[in-house]
Amino acid sequence: MRVLITGATGFIGYHLVKHLLSLGWEINCFVRKNSYREPEFIKRVSWIVGDLNNINSLKQACSQVDIIFHLAGKIKASNLEEFIKTNTKGTENLIQAILQTNRNVHLIYISSLAASGPSDKFHIKKESDNADPVSSYGKSKLLAEEAILKHKNDFRCTIIRPSIVYGSKDKETLQFFKLARFHLNPHLGVTKRHLSMIYVNDLIQLILKAASTKTRSGEIFFATDNDNGHTWNNIMKTAAKSLNTHIFPVFVPKFLIKIVFYFSNIKTKFSKKSTMLNIDKYNEIKYPYWVCSSDKAKRILNFRPKYSLEEGFIKTAKWYKKMGWIK
Ligand SMILES: NC(=O)c1ccc[n+]([C@@H]2O[C@H](COP(=O)([O-])OP(=O)(O)OC[C@H]3O[C@@H](n4cnc5c(N)ncnc54)[C@H](OP(=O)(O)O)[C@@H]3O)[C@@H](O)[C@H]2O)c1
Repeated sequence: MRVLITGATGFIGYHLVKHLLSLGWEINCFVRKNSYREPEFIKRVSWIVGDLNNINSLKQACSQVDIIFHLAGKIKASNLEEFIKTNTKGTENLIQAILQTNRNVHLIYISSLAASGPSDKFHIKKESDNADPVSSYGKSKLLAEEAILKHKNDFRCTIIRPSIVYGSKDKETLQFFKLARFHLNPHLGVTKRHLSMIYVNDLIQLILKAASTKTRSGEIFFATDNDNGHTWNNIMKTAAKSLNTHIFPVFVPKFLIKIVFYFSNIKTKFSKKSTMLNIDKYNEIKYPYWVCSSDKAKRILNFRPKYSLEEGFIKTAKWYKKMGWIK
């Protein structure tokens, strides 16, 4: 089995490559010229240099592989155009490359819960619900999904929509642990927040089940560890527990957060360095419920999450401490 992984140099890509190598799979990694290549993988995978915005490089990458895991994407940017350029147009280029070189491939696209949008207090999101993204990131991921689904009869495709993914090497959820280290448990407004989360090893399990199970082309699966999500309070308490520390609630009014995110967005435009503190992220966090169910993946793929939030956070905190990312 030879597979192509786009986004192999990112957080989730690292874990996918590591796991597939342990299973003895042959791996082609599609990377940009200046991407950081993990020393432990250098000699164990084939590197194909290209860019999602260069269709010729994608054509070269798509031929002679059985599965394409498409993880490459932009998770933070200051405007819709940037997200569209990588997440939507980049995926459309990949589709064209598949159509022209290898229609026998199974494309597994790592989308996001953001493509579906927030849930509401009394309804946990299911794959069959209407998608209604509230951020530019979410819109760009949904457009990519739609572009893929248009061709579900031309080649086999599966879409996975992870909720918040955490684990070693992740720089985004690292912020939760940093807040806990500073004894802070910030509450945005007064509404209790509920979020779905998944430990990266469980996500890899789900991705592999999607690769190995015979399903209809075009199926979509949410990926989460727990069908009821986690309250923000519980997430922060668990982060604090994993660091053996304690936290205190700090109530932050929504308008203050909006101002901080707004100015950070302006700074990003000038510095050209993206951060998660941007207006697009604010458009997501102002919704308190981001809860989805993995019931479909459990039924159809036999997905069985192995890590509770507590177990996953303990492993993650241990890694952050070992690497000095957190004291
Ligand atoms: N992390 C989460 O919580 C989460 C949740 C839901 C969905 N997802 C989705 O999962 C996927 C992976 O996320 P991640 O957290 O691993 O992100 P990440 O660490 O930011 O990795 C992104 C990857 O995409 C590559 N990339 C970006 N632009 C590219 C381009 N134009 N051409 C080729 N490669 C390009 C990056 O390469 P470089 O190394 O060159 O930058 C990197 O390997 C994304 O599609 C994201 O939308 C993530």
